[in-house]
Amino acid sequence: MASSSSPQRLFHLLSLILLLFAFCSISESSQFCDAGIGYGESCGVSSSSSTKLLIKGGTVVNAHEMEVADVYVEDGIIVAVRPNIKVGDDVTVLDATGKFVMPGGIDPHTHLDMEFMGSGTIDDFFSGQAAALAGGTTMHIDFVIPVNGSLLSGLEAYEKKSKKSCMDYGFHMAITKWDEVVSKEMEIMVNEKGINSFKFFMAYKGSFMINDELLLQAFKKCKSLGALAMVHAENGDAVYEGQRRMIELGITGPEGHALSSPQWLNFRKRLEGEATARAIKLAGFVNTPLYVVHVMSIDAMEEISKARKSGLKVIGEPVVSGLVLNDSWLWDPDFITAAKYVMSPPIRAAGHGKALQAALSMGTLQLVGTDHCTFNSTQKALGIDDFQKIPNGVNGIEERMHLVWDTMVESGQISVTDYVRVTSTECARIFNIYPRKGAIRAGSDADIIILNPNSSFEISAKSHHSRSDTNVYEGWRGKEATAPSLGGPWWL
Ligand code: URP
Ligand code: ZN
Ligand code: ZN
Repeated sequence: MASSSSPQRLFHLLSLILLLFAFCSISESSQFCDAGIGYGESCGVSSSSSTKLLIKGGTVVNAHEMEVADVYVEDGIIVAVRPNIKVGDDVTVLDATGKFVMPGGIDPHTHLDMEFMGSGTIDDFFSGQAAALAGGTTMHIDFVIPVNGSLLSGLEAYEKKSKKSCMDYGFHMAITKWDEVVSKEMEIMVNEKGINSFKFFMAYKGSFMINDELLLQAFKKCKSLGALAMVHAENGDAVYEGQRRMIELGITGPEGHALSSPQWLNFRKRLEGEATARAIKLAGFVNTPLYVVHVMSIDAMEEISKARKSGLKVIGEPVVSGLVLNDSWLWDPDFITAAKYVMSPPIRAAGHGKALQAALSMGTLQLVGTDHCTFNSTQKALGIDDFQKIPNGVNGIEERMHLVWDTMVESGQISVTDYVRVTSTECARIFNIYPRKGAIRAGSDADIIILNPNSSFEISAKSHHSRSDTNVYEGWRGKEATAPSLGGPWWL
């Protein structure tokens, strides 16, 4: 079971105060967009149907409590949550007895329709969101990638891409180079566009990576804007060197991605820990909060743990692949099988996932993302002769809710209330959309899912909703989860 210690609660309070600083601009802005239901609807249309709906007799779960109650919804907004609500004949009634009625999942980390490593992710804002809804996720936050370094051009491009949306979404901004123009554009993002979370890359040398000198400038800028700095923490120079060594040794297959340096030194995972520590120190030096995305290794998690214990405001986001998979797949003799597991930072050896699960259950890590960044077999085959050219990324937007349930709740590592916290509420709090999202309470959006704990189905590329022809969670099990007020039922 998870528990929050007092220092962690204090941290939540402090980070909330800090992040609420920017709330006014966010709440009136376009960072979080109500998308229309269905393909082709544009941003700004109400997300929910106008039907009146009563969800009866389920166990309503919030991050802090659960109770058997009815939930009454009108025009996409929760109107009342209490036992024995009486309604007229014009209301659709759903019996949720024996099921959990919970806030829909919010995925803090996705890449839909992203150009990356000479290719483009196969899921766009329609197929990716359809997959999300099918898996009980009702909102996600995607990363805008600048165009030739320009944040404004990048946002313009993503506004077009996201017109296909069928559910609510928000944007973080990735920063892929640093200069005065970018610095000024960050001001525009925060003050006019409502985007106040920025991801900096300490890896992908030669493309997205920025060095420490620039990272420090960027962190200072985040602090001055009251924005949240996010990092992809890997030592990009050393990763590059390690990859070069692998190629020199003639190791060109996907296993080279995990090795990138002699395995007995376990070198590459250390490069994540080193970069995490460095980013934490630089953010601490500037005294600005830090959000570490896709925490994949014990080393990185321990750095976050140390920092939090010392009072620094650091948030750690594990992703589903890091929690439940291990790197053995990268040694599969079949290239396509192995290549589908290539992502960065790499999926680690067995043992890291278990440690990350424990850290999530103890509150050392706070919320679970997916880094959904999907390429099909043909796209992955770009790296058939050289693992460095395999487009990095795995699926997860559809599977996250199932795998966190299966791995964390079914195993008894976290409670059902903590499940809601790590899959929904914490994300809503950190990114200033709580309690509109992340809660089942009067006044909140009716982004509700009903999860049947007694159901079971097998995850497979044959039946999933992503456009990819592969699935890294093939054979894992999920629960039936529906989103009744969002045009569902989205039966799995
Ligand atoms: O392999 C990954 N993670 N692909 C997406 C880009 C990123 O670094 O998040
Ligand atoms: Zn990243
Ligand atoms: Zn990512």
